[in-house]
Amino acid sequence: METMNTTLRQLIDYWDTKGVMLRIRREVDPYFELPGVISKKDGQPFYFEKVKGYQMPMVAGFGADRGLMADSMGIEEGQQLIPKMIDSIVNPLPTTKWATGPVQENVITKNIQLDRIFPICTYNEFDSGAFIVAGVLVVKDLSGQKRYTSIRRMQFYGGNRCGILITSPELREQYRQFEQAGEPMEIAIMMGVVPAVVLSSQISTHLYHADKLNVASAMLGESLPVVQCKTVDLEVLAEAEIVLEGRMLPHVREEEGPFGELAGYYGVQSPQPVVEISAVTYRNQAICQTILPASFEEKLPMGLVREVTLLSSVRQVVPSVKDVHITMGGVARYHGVIQIEKRSEGDGKQAALAAFASDKDLKHVVVVDEDVNIFDPSDVEWAIATRVQADLDIFIVPGAKGSPLEPSHNLRGVTAKMGIDATVPLTEKENYQRKRIPGADFIRLEDYL
Ligand SMILES: Cc1cc2nc3c(=O)[nH]c(=O)nc-3n(C[C@H](O)[C@H](O)[C@H](O)COP(=O)(O)O)c2cc1C
Repeated sequence: METMNTTLRQLIDYWDTKGVMLRIRREVDPYFELPGVISKKDGQPFYFEKVKGYQMPMVAGFGADRGLMADSMGIEEGQQLIPKMIDSIVNPLPTTKWATGPVQENVITKNIQLDRIFPICTYNEFDSGAFIVAGVLVVKDLSGQKRYTSIRRMQFYGGNRCGILITSPELREQYRQFEQAGEPMEIAIMMGVVPAVVLSSQISTHLYHADKLNVASAMLGESLPVVQCKTVDLEVLAEAEIVLEGRMLPHVREEEGPFGELAGYYGVQSPQPVVEISAVTYRNQAICQTILPASFEEKLPMGLVREVTLLSSVRQVVPSVKDVHITMGGVARYHGVIQIEKRSEGDGKQAALAAFASDKDLKHVVVVDEDVNIFDPSDVEWAIATRVQADLDIFIVPGAKGSPLEPSHNLRGVTAKMGIDATVPLTEKENYQRKRIPGADFIRLEDYL
């Protein structure tokens, strides 16, 4: 069996050999310049060899493209990611505990100055400072038995202190309970991990209650090794590049933001919890990692996880659903495209209704037949252009729940939902025969050059 790329270093070697990674040899400044370079090619893995002021290189864009994300896990087709994720949530593979691991080759517990150890970028014009945005946070659930991961951005305040933004109800509630007991909440943050670890961190704890590191192991087909942290009672990936250990302090808040958010606008400044780092551990010749905020790399894992939920929900009412796509242009949460094999009239609208019921953030849903490529925006637009009559095929639900992350919702605090049924009426199929050139599917242009 092919060796799996379970560590960032293996993946870098693999993609170097394949020539898919852009190596940036010129020195780049972590203050705007490095994010600016990443923004020039969304979906592209980058390796920055020289970051101004640092010995440590930095990577970005490793999980920014559906095909490459699949490739990083040894999966051939981007479309196979969703079935693989569903299987991995149902059949997770436990991690393996190691007594010691490379991530603890270097341990700093005194006089911690985070920005002297690794680069921390400043991203957007009006951001309130430098932010750590790609750390995979590890905590334990309320019972103290189960660990779970997520990504939470951290504003660097200086020394060993950061602000942390937590929007998920579970983690907020957990932190509240620690606060009530007057205790800090222990956390660990892993940087320099493969896309499977980032992707699995996005699985909703509320919906699946999965141990997300075990899900990542299942996605990779190999049990990931973990080690015990040095200053907190948590386990982290033994082969991550850098780990920060620390505590979220009880009853302490400091101003965090503004920051250029997922939807492409600035979020406001607000008081948020504060983290104090008690140890930084890292590998020899460690490689730092970032994820450009609001890039495909941030959106894709979120979108894929939403596709898992969407597919399951639609399948309950339209069993012949073939595939779903949460688009990047729709901020990986507001736009869904659903492909069905229509069996009865009404399947199209029913699928859209199921989608809205399953995810409050969805605003606009298009349902198409199986001959439309839902991953090609032009093909979806073509279906809308040639199969939709607005008075018959579009429905609007006014004033439903929506996502406060996008500004038009905040005009009234509610969101209208629009379903577009772009499927062909069953009785009309013969009038919608799609043209086709026999043999064209098998022609490879290279063979004619
Ligand atoms: C690159 C990236 C950055 C993210 N930043 C934040 C953040 O700053 N705060 C936050 O609450 N969620 C953030 N998220 C989303 C959470 O990580 C996600 O909602 C969470 O992992 C879902 O799991 P949960 O149900 O366990 O909370 C981010 C996600 C990604 C991919």
